Amino acid sequence: NSLTRFPLIPIRGVPLMSIIANNFDSIWAFNPDPSDLLIATYPKAGTTWTQEIIDLLINNGDAEACRRAPTPVRSPFLEIHSPPPIPSGLDLLKKMDPPRIIKTHLPFQLVPQGFWENKCKAIYVARNAKDNMVSYYHFDRMNKTQPEPGPWDGYVHKFMQGQLGWGSWYDHVKGYWVEREKRNILYLFYEDMKENPARVVRTIMQYLDLSVSDEVIDRIVELTSFKNMKDNPMANYSCVPPEVFDMSISPFMRKGEVGDWKNYFTPEQLKMFDEDYEKQMKDVHIPFRSLI
Ligand code: PPS
Repeated sequence: NSLTRFPLIPIRGVPLMSIIANNFDSIWAFNPDPSDLLIATYPKAGTTWTQEIIDLLINNGDAEACRRAPTPVRSPFLEIHSPPPIPSGLDLLKKMDPPRIIKTHLPFQLVPQGFWENKCKAIYVARNAKDNMVSYYHFDRMNKTQPEPGPWDGYVHKFMQGQLGWGSWYDHVKGYWVEREKRNILYLFYEDMKENPARVVRTIMQYLDLSVSDEVIDRIVELTSFKNMKDNPMANYSCVPPEVFDMSISPFMRKGEVGDWKNYFTPEQLKMFDEDYEKQMKDVHIPFRSLI
């Protein structure tokens, strides 16, 4: 089986997998319906979790309805152009009627302008840089379409320099933060979802102008716990063939925790990372939690 790890090619300075970069014109031309919802994240920030919460909110907590198909079919990944037999995001979207829940990892400036011209709602989820990087590292090990992560130490440098797929985490989280008011983007944090999922589910409900009972909120929290999503074949990415996602290397639903970075950073890496973080983040203040 000759699956390639696609190299990264810059599009307007942002490294994207070649299979995406080579199709970027058609992605850029995508014109959503005003009723479509965008879920935007840097890879591994809590996308799948948010997609599941939203599908359940729309379906009033009906677990069976949300098991109608795997996550990437219920909620297509806008820019993905996977090797066959996995359909591309654009192909899936063409066959679906709005309103659609559309996932993207594109940084703000590469999101098709139609989303903003049509005043689509958009939810952004940010995860603290260190856990986000650890999660991405394991994903790059198991996802056979992404470039090899290489050793951890080099990976930390690539992350800091914005050389991973979809580019700089720093630019990504800042790009959406500065636009959130003008574009009516709901900006969420993974750490808040962990601390008080019911509160975040309610926040999303209100943003989407939905109304579900307290009992349904509790059910959604339960159905979207890490454990339940890990065991749910329609939410755990077991739909992806093992040649593409080798879950024996690392499962898609890996740990789902805050603070796993402490198991990876050496004191030297931590010092270097924190000093660089201060510099990269000083122009825009985003209220990430202190992780100490
Ligand atoms: S992707 O490929 O970018 O769409 O991945 P994404 O879904 O954004 O991120 C995957 C990480 O989110 C964790 N996850 C969860 N954490 C807590 N609760 C729930 N329900 C949940 N679902 C997914 C998943 O385990 C990945 O994080 P790590 O730290 O690697 O475990």
